[in-house]
Amino acid sequence: MGQGLPGVDSLGDLDGKRVLVRSDLNVPLDPNPGSTATITDDGRIRASVPQINALLDAGAMVLVCAHLGRPKGGPDPRYSLAPVAKRLGDLLDCEVEFVADPTGGVEGPRWKGLRRKVAMLENVRFDPRETSKDEAERGEYADQLAGHADRYVDDAFGAVHRKHASVYDVALRLPHAAGDLVRREVDVLNRLTREPQRPYVVVLGGSKVSDKLAVIESLLPEVDTLLVGGGMCFTFLKAQGHEVGDSLLEADQVEAAGRFLETGKVVLPVDVVVATEVSADADTKVVPADGIPAGTKGLDIGPRSVEQFAAALDGARTVFWNGPMGVFELAPFAAGTRGVADAIAALGGPDHSGALTVVGGGDSAAAVRALGIEESRFGHISTGGGASLEYLEGKQLPGLTVLEESTT
Ligand code: 3PG
Repeated sequence: MGQGLPGVDSLGDLDGKRVLVRSDLNVPLDPNPGSTATITDDGRIRASVPQINALLDAGAMVLVCAHLGRPKGGPDPRYSLAPVAKRLGDLLDCEVEFVADPTGGVEGPRWKGLRRKVAMLENVRFDPRETSKDEAERGEYADQLAGHADRYVDDAFGAVHRKHASVYDVALRLPHAAGDLVRREVDVLNRLTREPQRPYVVVLGGSKVSDKLAVIESLLPEVDTLLVGGGMCFTFLKAQGHEVGDSLLEADQVEAAGRFLETGKVVLPVDVVVATEVSADADTKVVPADGIPAGTKGLDIGPRSVEQFAAALDGARTVFWNGPMGVFELAPFAAGTRGVADAIAALGGPDHSGALTVVGGGDSAAAVRALGIEESRFGHISTGGGASLEYLEGKQLPGLTVLEESTT
């Protein structure tokens, strides 16, 4: 698992040791003005629990650090991790001591009086040095974080593409290891790129071609079929010469989409759900993909496309899905995403006895949970959004390469 990355076992006896754990707890929040924010999808918090539990069971004192959102260089109550610490405590079934200072202060957590020794720092991005481009600045912050710990475990797969103090620099200062979540993610993503079993089908959606350009470039030679839905399909339909009305269109990506179409591996929707407004009570119509009326926007793939995509997925041995097929948050535009999710889920579960089915993180993982589709029906639901894509693009990710280096 996660070849090349040292696992937590390599850290030796952790009884009584202080372990700094970097987790990815960047979850969507509903702000609830005037009261505590509500976590709308706790998938990443739940994914971080097994490693923390394992460390506590080994007798370690666990100090969790993480980011939330992208606060602009200072504390911003909208991005406080306090509600996340509360949720983590519920899932761990213990109190999590919340340290409201992202540096941990002079003394760090008090630990005293806790049934299980687990504490969490406030959002590391409240300290501008966390994301600084200046190595010395990041280093100062990493020194403070490392000062509270004897060991470092990076379990934040979703953040390993960031060269940030709590992801990269702190690993240079402490004996370190990759957490089980990171190792599992890397292992599964490797299976998508190194001799995947065939047929290999990739399903991409989401709004922008430009976000997926690099991953399409690198996966297209490997895959047998690439199914394209979501907002990005309209740029491909335009490249085929069709009018797309008011649908999302990236004019500067039409040429690239045309190039991808030339491979003959790309399958586009044959029908789409259109409306004049993006709302839960919009009047919708299903129209052929080559006949989108002027003044309307395509907001989901249509029922015939769902059948077509399901047929292309049938019999696949390896599937990677990233990005919803439509505006799944609104009921009139959720059927495409649900249909594709069901077709993928029918192929195999976590034991990979059928196909290896991997859901890329971010919106598609959130869609699976929001639509109430049983997560165990998929082989793997990644916690990484950008990180999964960059890994599949073949990039060197700083948070992983640093773990392969020794501190001694
Ligand atoms: C994510 O949401 O993909 C990760 O938590 C990384 O967040 P970032 O893109 O703000 O660095």
